[in-house]
Amino acid sequence: MKNYVVKKKIYSIGLFGNPVKHSLSPLIHNIFSKEIKINYNYNLFLCTKSNFFIEIKKFFQCGGFGCNVTVPFKKLAFHALHQYSKRAKISNSTNTLKKSIDSNILGDNTDGIGLIYDLKRLKYIKKYSKVLLLGAGGVAHSIIYHLLKEQCSVVILNRTLDKSVDLIKKFTHFGKISVFSDRLNKYEFDILINATSCGLYNQSPFFPKYVVTPKTICYDISYSRTQSLTPFLLVCKNLGSTNISDGFGMLVAQAAYSCLFWFGVLPDINKTFNKLKLMF
Ligand code: ATR
Repeated sequence: MKNYVVKKKIYSIGLFGNPVKHSLSPLIHNIFSKEIKINYNYNLFLCTKSNFFIEIKKFFQCGGFGCNVTVPFKKLAFHALHQYSKRAKISNSTNTLKKSIDSNILGDNTDGIGLIYDLKRLKYIKKYSKVLLLGAGGVAHSIIYHLLKEQCSVVILNRTLDKSVDLIKKFTHFGKISVFSDRLNKYEFDILINATSCGLYNQSPFFPKYVVTPKTICYDISYSRTQSLTPFLLVCKNLGSTNISDGFGMLVAQAAYSCLFWFGVLPDINKTFNKLKLMF
């Protein structure tokens, strides 16, 4: 009788963005791959605005199975899709793509569900929590729907007022959402979330100091590999907040939901989070 060696398929997964060099996603997916026993490579692709679509197309034509898209291409990537999930459509952006058997590109957005998972893990979120959201860019678009679905009320404070107003118009039919007002919104927030891109420049966004009390939960969607606290969390800590967290847990959770989208299996988020925490 002949002996057949059955080679296990290795799936090709990529990350497209700029910058990508310091991404922790390869490490996270390496752990997931071993845990779910599905062999996949996770390669980084540094793109520019002008070659992003070409690179994505090339990747899928050359056998790419799925990919993640990160800053600053999540909105752009939405236009590469043939089909999208409800949450990708609502946010008008995508961070997770895969090729279907009929060669269509399908897209999802796992940022919002990743954030909610982490806020629940930390026991930071409750029904009717009052959230002050800093920022009105791509990340804010990805998470607002999910916060409203949890029946939180959301107040937006952004450097550019017009963008906050646009967000309100877009999401008002999903729940309670308004623009921050110095006069109306004093002392009332349970959670302050930083969804600006300030962390990329090692800065904290501006916000009135009185919104942080010792009870206020402060969550930064970005995370820092080099400092123990992000600039935003440092400001919050100095203002007396004792409940603070960066977005490392969200990063792991959104990656796990990407895995679910590609392979139909959700890795153990908490186990991976704890493993990674020991490494840093
Ligand atoms: P992302 O996809 O990371 O959300 P984005 O869509 O460019 O990136 O949005 C960046 C967000 O961070 C915006 O809300 C931006 O405010 P503006 O709408 O006023 O541009 C906010 N942001 C960036 N730098 C900031 C800074 N130095 N202070 C305050 N907000 C800042």
